[in-house]
Amino acid sequence: MSLNLNSIRLGGKDVLPLIEGGKGVAISTGASSGPWAKAGGIGTISAVIADQYDAHGNVETHEYLGRTRADRHEEMIKYSVRGTVDQVRKAWEISKGEGHININMLWEVGSAQRILHEVLEKTKGMIHGVTCGAGMPFKLGELASKYGAHYYPIVSSGRAFNLLWKRAYKNVSELLGGVVYEDPWLAGGHNGLSNAEDPTKPGDPYPRVLELRNIMRKLGLGETPIIMAGGVWNLKEWKDWIDNKELGPIMFQFGTRPLLTKESQISDKWKKRLMELKSGDILLQNFSPTGFFSSALKNSFIGELVGRNDRQVDYAPKQSEEFNTEMVIDRKKYFVRGADVEKVQNWQSTGFQKAMKTPGDSLIFVTSQKCAEIRKDQADCVGCLSQCRFSSWATNEKNSTGRLADPRSFCIQKTLEDVSHEGSIDDNLVFAGHNAFRFGSDPFYSNGFVPTVKQLVDRIVSGD
Ligand SMILES: Cc1cc2nc3c(=O)[nH]c(=O)nc-3n(C[C@H](O)[C@H](O)[C@H](O)COP(=O)(O)O)c2cc1C
Ligand code: SF4
Repeated sequence: MSLNLNSIRLGGKDVLPLIEGGKGVAISTGASSGPWAKAGGIGTISAVIADQYDAHGNVETHEYLGRTRADRHEEMIKYSVRGTVDQVRKAWEISKGEGHININMLWEVGSAQRILHEVLEKTKGMIHGVTCGAGMPFKLGELASKYGAHYYPIVSSGRAFNLLWKRAYKNVSELLGGVVYEDPWLAGGHNGLSNAEDPTKPGDPYPRVLELRNIMRKLGLGETPIIMAGGVWNLKEWKDWIDNKELGPIMFQFGTRPLLTKESQISDKWKKRLMELKSGDILLQNFSPTGFFSSALKNSFIGELVGRNDRQVDYAPKQSEEFNTEMVIDRKKYFVRGADVEKVQNWQSTGFQKAMKTPGDSLIFVTSQKCAEIRKDQADCVGCLSQCRFSSWATNEKNSTGRLADPRSFCIQKTLEDVSHEGSIDDNLVFAGHNAFRFGSDPFYSNGFVPTVKQLVDRIVSGD
């Protein structure tokens, strides 16, 4: 079939309207984004704790030696800058100036702006643009424009873009490369689901993207590309979106499909698992310490978090009519509802004997081993986020959110570092889009075929 997939002119260059989305940590690297750019599209390097190389080109492990969380936060910044610069250089060597290289930053990373400033300073002329999602990156336009780089905010509604534009981007309009619309129900990774949206009721992307376009038209941005991300598997299913006058210029971003290429740096066991997934194996949940919803593989890691959250009762420090029953756990006194006593006793008798307080005035019940692991992970915090629900670290003067650390969440830095470096696919957070199960049924991957990036891009261009 012919899709009539026209190139789009961006930053003085014609590129295919196809983007490999940024994937942290250390998943979308120079090795994957370089070939994507070489194939004529836009490759995106994740700038969050990216892998750095030693003098022989081997990946160096990130070791945190600082004694305080603030010291380790500085090390995290250093690693992110050094690693991203290494990855940009690698992508540049591979792509040889074809296509474009973007970098991606989670705005809620601790000291995100400092990392971006340092990376952009050291990679002038190599980076076309900066994409940024999760949160409201008001400063993104101003920051990128200091280095002559384009910027690409990631939003999940027209309303969010309108706010960003009115408050900040209108002053740096000429470098807005495009607006990424990320489907919050289908895309892999963190999602921008708002409080008003129901995680179980996916919204149709067409009217949402059209609303974004209509807002952009009113702002004089009718010809600025909108990048559709989330739930895009093949373009024959999106042909009504291509050359559609109502929607204007559209590009497509892929996050899940590029995980399975020869160049993709994820482990072979992860690649194998992708081919075995079934419909419904990906879960949209809100355990992340960032506070955002995210889509990930429903594995033992997620199962354990679900269990932790289920083994939960409300409590009060003082007796009241509602919290009328005293329980002594680990020599500490709590008042719980009478109806909850039996539940707690059952959990304790099946090994979940440790009670941990949450900031929601509740107790969760875990094994002694899990309790020790949670406490160790909180103590080992390297301050990777601007605000962390799990450890209560914040990148502020007090290095604290001022709230109680929440044991219902987890250390995202630890698990993403592990899974991106040969770690377990069962016992880690494994981000994936809801279409990931299609690897198993798409004939392109039959007999365990793993394409090169170029073969994947050619396949997508063909409509499949
Ligand atoms: C493993 C994985 C990690 C991701 N990490 C990030 C990230 O760090 N920052 C980001 O903006 N998006 C991230 N994403 C989202 C992708 O960039 C992309 O927008 C999304 O996956 C597109 O939807 P799809 O999964 O249906 O292809 C991630 C996606 C996956 C699958
Ligand atoms: S505890 Fe939170 S802020 Fe600290 S390293 Fe882990 S995820 Fe990052």
